[in-house]
Amino acid sequence: MGAVVAAWCGTSIGIDVYRKTETALRERERQLQQLIDTVPALIWSTTDDGAPTYVNKRFTEVIGATLQDITAPNGKLALSVIHPDDRAAAAQAVARSFRTGVSYVARYRQLRRDGSWRWTETRAEPLRDDSGAILRWYGVSVDIEDMVVAQQALRERERELSQLVDMVPSHLWRLTPEGEPIFFNKRMVDFLGLDVADTDRPGSSRLEAVIEKVHPDDAARFREVLHGCLATGERFSMRYRLRRSDGTYRWMSSRADPMRDQSGRIVQWYGLCHDIDDQLRAEEALRRASEKLAQATQAASLAELSAAIAHEVNQPLGAIAANAHACRRWLSAEPPNVERAKITADRIVRDANSAADVVGRIRALFRQSVETRSRTALDGIFEEVRRLMAEEAARCRVRMNVDVESGLPLVALDRVQVQQVLINLVRNGIEAMDCIAGEKVLEMRARRMGDFVQARISDCGRGIELADRIFEPFFTTKQNGMGMGLAICRSIIESHGGRLWAERNEPRGAAFVFTLPLEAKTAP
Ligand SMILES: Nc1ncnc2c1ncn2[C@@H]1O[C@H](COP(=O)(O)OP(=O)(O)OP(=O)(O)O)[C@@H](O)[C@H]1O
Ligand SMILES: [Mg+2]
Repeated sequence: MGAVVAAWCGTSIGIDVYRKTETALRERERQLQQLIDTVPALIWSTTDDGAPTYVNKRFTEVIGATLQDITAPNGKLALSVIHPDDRAAAAQAVARSFRTGVSYVARYRQLRRDGSWRWTETRAEPLRDDSGAILRWYGVSVDIEDMVVAQQALRERERELSQLVDMVPSHLWRLTPEGEPIFFNKRMVDFLGLDVADTDRPGSSRLEAVIEKVHPDDAARFREVLHGCLATGERFSMRYRLRRSDGTYRWMSSRADPMRDQSGRIVQWYGLCHDIDDQLRAEEALRRASEKLAQATQAASLAELSAAIAHEVNQPLGAIAANAHACRRWLSAEPPNVERAKITADRIVRDANSAADVVGRIRALFRQSVETRSRTALDGIFEEVRRLMAEEAARCRVRMNVDVESGLPLVALDRVQVQQVLINLVRNGIEAMDCIAGEKVLEMRARRMGDFVQARISDCGRGIELADRIFEPFFTTKQNGMGMGLAICRSIIESHGGRLWAERNEPRGAAFVFTLPLEAKTAP
C-alpha cells in the first residue's frame, strides 16, 4: 500500500531572533573596529607563521604603509618600517617568537609617513586555540619617542652629574641617617686609597673604618662631634687631619648637612671635605714672614734712627771737641788768654745747643710733628746756611753763590730741619768737588713755581754715579761716609709735603732740587 499522506505538519521557526542577533553582532564588530581604529596605538595581526593579515587605520595613517606594504613577496612580515640599524635585532626577536611562541617585545625606531623615525615599543601576543596551537599573532606598537628622548637626556645628565661629583676638587660622601658611609666620590677614594666597599670590616662599623684614617689626636673629637650631629641633626663642621693613601696627614675642612624628607625626617647626610693643608701652610708661612718683617723693620728703623742722630750730631760734636781743645790751649798759655778762651767757650755752648736742637728735631721728624713749623722766609735760612758753611767752603776753596728770588712768599717750615737739609746738600756738593781741577762753584737757588717754592743746590763736581741708590739709607761711596745724609733730607722734605730729587747739572756736576708747598701740608 502506498503511503498516504495523512497530514502536513508545518514548522515555522521565527528567524527574527537570528536577524536581530546578526545585527547586534555587526554593530559590535563595527564598534570594535572603531575602537581599534581610534586607540592611539598601531595594531596589526599576522597568521601563526607571520603572514600579515591586518593593520588598523591608524597604522596606515601614521606610518604611511598599508597591509600590502608590510607584506614581503614571500607573504611574510616585511620589516621595512623598522630603522635599518635596528632591523636585524627586531628580525631576530620576531623569528624567535614565531618559532617558539613566546611573547614578542622590542624597541626600535619606526618609520613615519614624513620619512622620520620615532622610537616605538612593539608587543605581540599569540592567540591560541583550546589545544594551545597558535591561531594568530596580535601586535601593538606604541610611540615612546618622547620617553626615550627624556630618558636619554636624563642618562646624559646623570653621567654629567656623576662626572661633576668625581671632578670637584673636594671629597664628597654620603652617609645613612645612622652615619654609615654609602658613597665616596672618586677624589675621596683616591685620597683615602679605599672605596666604601673596603670599609666593610667584620665587627666594626663603616664609619669606624673612616675614623681610623683621622689623625689620632683628632679622632676622638671627630667621633664625638659627628655622633653628636647624627643624634641632633645639627650641621657637622670641623677641621681635622686625615691620612692620605701615602701615609701623610693633611688638614681638612669638613662639613656635613642632613637631607630631610617632607616630614622632616633625615634620609641622608651629605659630607663635603676640602684639603686645606697647602692653604694652612701658606698662611703659616705668611704669618711667620710678616712677623720677621715686622721685626726687621723695627730693627731697621731703630738703626736708621740711631744713624740719623749720629749723623746730625757728629758735626757739632766735632766742632765742640775742636773748640774745647782750643779753649784749653788759650787757658794753658802763659799768660792764659781768657778773652779768647771765653770766645771758644761760647762757640762750644752754641754748638752744644745746636746738637741738642738737632736731636730734638730728629725725634720730632720721626713723629712727623708739625708743631715746630712756622712761616719763614727762605732767604734768611739760605743766608744762615751760607754763614754756617763759609768756613768749610773756604777751606775747600769753594765759592758759594746764593740766589733767592726776591719777594718769595713765606713758607711754613721747621727752620732747623730745612737748615739740616741745606747743610747736608751743600756739604755733599763741597765733597763732590774735592778732587776736581779748576773753579769750584756751589750754587744755592730758590724760585717760586706755582704752589711751590723750589730750591736747587748745584755743584760742578764729578756728578752722580748711582742715581737710583743715593737716597737709600746707608748708601755711600765715601770712605768715611755714613750714607744717611740724603735719606734724612728726603724724609724731612717729604714730611713737609715736598719732593727731593737729583738731576744733572750743566755743564757738569750734580744738582739736588727740592720743593716745599706754599700751603703747609704734612706727609700722608
Ligand atoms: N753732590 C753730589 N755729587 C755726586 N754724588 C753725590 C752728591 N751728593 C751725594 N752723592 C752720592 O750719594 C751718596 C749718598 O750721599 P749721602 O749724603 O746720603 O751720604 P754720604 O754723603 O755718602 O755720607 P753721609 O751720611 O756722611 O752724608 C754719596 O756717597 C755720593 O756717592
Ligand atoms: Mg752726605
